[in-house]
Amino acid sequence: MARISNEQIMEIRNSVSIVDIISEYVPLTQKGKNYFGLCPFHDDHNPSMSVSNEKQIYTCFVCGATGNVFTFLMEYEHLSFLEAVKLVANKTNISIDIDTGSKRTYSYLDKFYDMYDIAAKFYQNNLKTSSGTIGRKYLSDRGINAEIIKQFGVGVSFNGDKLYQMLKANGHDDKSILKSGLCNINENGCYDLFVNRIMFPLWNVEGKTVGFSGRIYDRDDSAKYVNSKESQIFKKGHLLYNYHHAKEHIRKAGQVIVVEGFMDVIALFKVGIKNVIATMGTAITSDQAQLIKRLSSNVILMFDGDKAGNKATIACGEELLKLGVTAKIVRLEDELDPDDYIDKYGVDRLKEHLDSPISLLDYKMFIYKEGKNLNNSDDVSNYIDNVIKELNLVKDKIVREIIIQKLSKETGVSVETLLSLLNKEELSTKVAITKPPKEKYKMQSKYEKAYERLLFYMLKYKEVIRLFDDSDVFIPVKEYRYLACEIISFYKKYGDINIADFIAYLGSKKELMEILSQIIMLPLPEEYSREEIDDYIKVLNDYTVEIEIKRLEGVLKECSVDTDRANIANQIMELRKGVDLDGNN
Ligand code: UTP
Ligand code: MN
Repeated sequence: MARISNEQIMEIRNSVSIVDIISEYVPLTQKGKNYFGLCPFHDDHNPSMSVSNEKQIYTCFVCGATGNVFTFLMEYEHLSFLEAVKLVANKTNISIDIDTGSKRTYSYLDKFYDMYDIAAKFYQNNLKTSSGTIGRKYLSDRGINAEIIKQFGVGVSFNGDKLYQMLKANGHDDKSILKSGLCNINENGCYDLFVNRIMFPLWNVEGKTVGFSGRIYDRDDSAKYVNSKESQIFKKGHLLYNYHHAKEHIRKAGQVIVVEGFMDVIALFKVGIKNVIATMGTAITSDQAQLIKRLSSNVILMFDGDKAGNKATIACGEELLKLGVTAKIVRLEDELDPDDYIDKYGVDRLKEHLDSPISLLDYKMFIYKEGKNLNNSDDVSNYIDNVIKELNLVKDKIVREIIIQKLSKETGVSVETLLSLLNKEELSTKVAITKPPKEKYKMQSKYEKAYERLLFYMLKYKEVIRLFDDSDVFIPVKEYRYLACEIISFYKKYGDINIADFIAYLGSKKELMEILSQIIMLPLPEEYSREEIDDYIKVLNDYTVEIEIKRLEGVLKECSVDTDRANIANQIMELRKGVDLDGNN
């Protein structure tokens, strides 16, 4: 998506009322100045989300969710920032082409979407024709009825150039048609690319058809599935099958189930499990991991039970872990995929699996053990080696303890011996982490208080922003410093400060949003006094001086030239004069 200016974003935000928009999702009742409703971001039973018409923000005093109209839609609808802006723009009369930088690319992409839309309808219609009989039979043999066909837009492709002709008739030129990847060309002219395959539309996160996957059904062929080639609108690594259908179910269930194949999504849908998306057989990309995280932090991976599935499970689990998401794993027996598993063992047994998923570490232990003979000492040693390596990455002492016990039981190697293996490696990490002394912690909290409060009032009063900016004060923690910089640059640009607009201005800077919501929630009085602001600034300035004193003291220790030593000692004394080292704050 292309550029949209901050001014446009603010205009869009200002043209709606957050109360109106949130009411579309959550019933709100007015109490005094604010509106209250059940918070949709945690399991809320008493209305704990307040929406302020005046500030144009919402805050939940239980789970801490906070933000403006855009963040609400991002969280609720699982949208990106720009998607949320677009959604709000659509609700107003403001016509802004967020998709566009230039008109040409827009109509070009539009053409793509249009062609894929036509193709989807064309394939679906084929299924109803007499030539579609075998395809229909294949689907019904797999238990895919009319309702499912409709839900997933399933169709069928035939040999020939009928789709090509239809695209032409709809005003598309050869060049675009060939570029779409729906048709091909040879000496006889253009012809349809997908031949005699059951056609599954693939959608982007907004639910637009951007590609197809065609399954073989009436003959033997080396490729079970043929996919559309990647295009400007279709990037396999950027989408997850069923994302837009599943997201509402995922929100309700508070959980997302990830499978490999879209046939598995369909099989689970058939038995009423609808909070499911598929990676579609490729190694998961970080983009896809982000998408999963956006859906829910409660993730279950239920991949095929074969070797490829094992590998994909671990890769996906680790990719999610990088984003701080701890996925749980379902391991299916007999190398089955969820679809075949339901066929063989029934839904209930699959549900039992879903109710008792295991951790990634437990899963890895299964995998490491596979094909090993634990009566063979080489195998045992190898197995223990693998597990200890994993365990050294685990910080949780309880998990470590449990795994060590389990490992000891399995292998017959004593807990002491296993612990000794573990401790060796743990020691090296322990040395690196030196705990801050208690005293330092106490001081730190004083500084924390100072910069948090400064930021709190900066977000409300431009006068405080000016005081802060004039003072040249330094915030010792990077993220908070960045937030202060953003507030100042917002103020310099717009001449005022307004939390709701500022949130829009921050856009997708997630780390800053987290800090921002923390600060907005601080239980502080609305009004500030000039003295307290000056005091916070002094506390932070003192901190900077203290750091410099510490540095000089270090230099002093190393220094052996007498005149230099005297010089440094003097500097230290001068610095000490200005600082309130006891800090009674
Ligand atoms: P699977 O081989 O597990 O397919 O591939 P499946 O879901 O069990 O399909 P059925 O039950 O045999 O019909 C998982 C995913 O990998 C991709 C597809 O997206 C599929 O959903 N895949 C698989 C391909 O793209 N091409 C292939 O040839 C095979
Ligand atoms: Mn299958």
